[in-house]
Amino acid sequence: MRRWLITGGAGFIGSNFVRYTLGHYPEDTVVVLDKLTYAGNRENLRDLGGDRRLRFVQGDIADPGVARSLIQGCDVVVNFAAESHVDRSIVDPTAFLQTNVIGTQVLLDAAVRATPRPIFVQISTDEVYGSTDGEPFREDSSLKPNSQYAASKAAADLLVRAYKSTFNLYSVITRSSNNYGPYQFPEKFIPLAITNAIQNEPIPLYGDGLQIRDWLHVEDNCRAIDQVIECHEQKSQDHTEIFNIGGGHDAEVTNKYVLETILKILDKPLSLIQYVPDRPGHDRRYAISTEKLQRKSRWAPTHRFENSLRNTVEWYRTHESWWRPLKARAAPHWLRMKKGTPCAS
Ligand SMILES: NC(=O)c1ccc[n+]([C@@H]2O[C@H](COP(=O)([O-])OP(=O)(O)OC[C@H]3O[C@@H](n4cnc5c(N)ncnc54)[C@H](O)[C@@H]3O)[C@@H](O)[C@H]2O)c1
Repeated sequence: MRRWLITGGAGFIGSNFVRYTLGHYPEDTVVVLDKLTYAGNRENLRDLGGDRRLRFVQGDIADPGVARSLIQGCDVVVNFAAESHVDRSIVDPTAFLQTNVIGTQVLLDAAVRATPRPIFVQISTDEVYGSTDGEPFREDSSLKPNSQYAASKAAADLLVRAYKSTFNLYSVITRSSNNYGPYQFPEKFIPLAITNAIQNEPIPLYGDGLQIRDWLHVEDNCRAIDQVIECHEQKSQDHTEIFNIGGGHDAEVTNKYVLETILKILDKPLSLIQYVPDRPGHDRRYAISTEKLQRKSRWAPTHRFENSLRNTVEWYRTHESWWRPLKARAAPHWLRMKKGTPCAS
């Protein structure tokens, strides 16, 4: 039986991971710590509301008192909490540095003071490597973040490393590619496209739309995080392990292709695509090697991109009552996008 602290558990990936953990480990208990920013939503955990193994705490990871009291007695801390939208980080990076950097440092500090110490799992991103026009990034590739979001995540990764070096904190970092699936806040690329298409609204596409992303289904990511923790529990802890998590070759596609596929699935015209000036510092291609994870664990992605994109479209089509209020909440952001002026410019 393990006790988990899952921060950011009311967000997209965090809520999927809470569901995964409670579903797979009947003996375990989970505490979710979430500030409920505009991106956090208790509705994401509604189906788990009757589960007595789940406790929800609304609070800030950057609050040392909260962090210390919740980490004490935990076996595993998984830090999903973050400001996560690149466009917003370019307009105003302050909250990104506060949560992604200071918040992570506060959690790390609380983890080293706890007895016994938990395993600390930092959920990072492939965006810390920057853009590639050659080989996929490996875990030892250099960090070259190009957005304020990515820079804040890279800083957090380096803090995790420093807490391992100075305090010998058991820690692991996962760097995944772009996730898609249910419960993703509808300002992100795929849910924005699906929900705008359903509403017959224009769908903004940056630049020529030929930026390449590797798409990872959120369930594959949750399974990979679980495997990484399992590997880590079993082996000697001589350094902070880093694992890339990606969707595989069939999931590396251009943004334009993703939009065209969504419109085809929904039987909507391509004229809904609205080209807008490119975002400053926009990475052209993300690509990562997941060879290390596949070698060290039993994990491999199981979701085929086109098939799972279709299922994701279906999820948003049948969950309008979930996303319509969220879209209304983020309205100022959409209005700028719809006028063809990306927030980033
Ligand atoms: N979505 C992706 O494609 C992707 C890809 C790679 C890595 N990641 C990383 O995965 C993690 C989760 O991403 P997501 O897409 O689920 O994000 P999200 O924006 O959907 O959720 C973030 C959650 O963190 C909470 N939060 C924000 N600030 C907080 C604070 N100070 N204290 C406590 N809670 C706070 C929010 O309320 C929200 O519930 C992030 O760390 C992100 O960097 C995401």
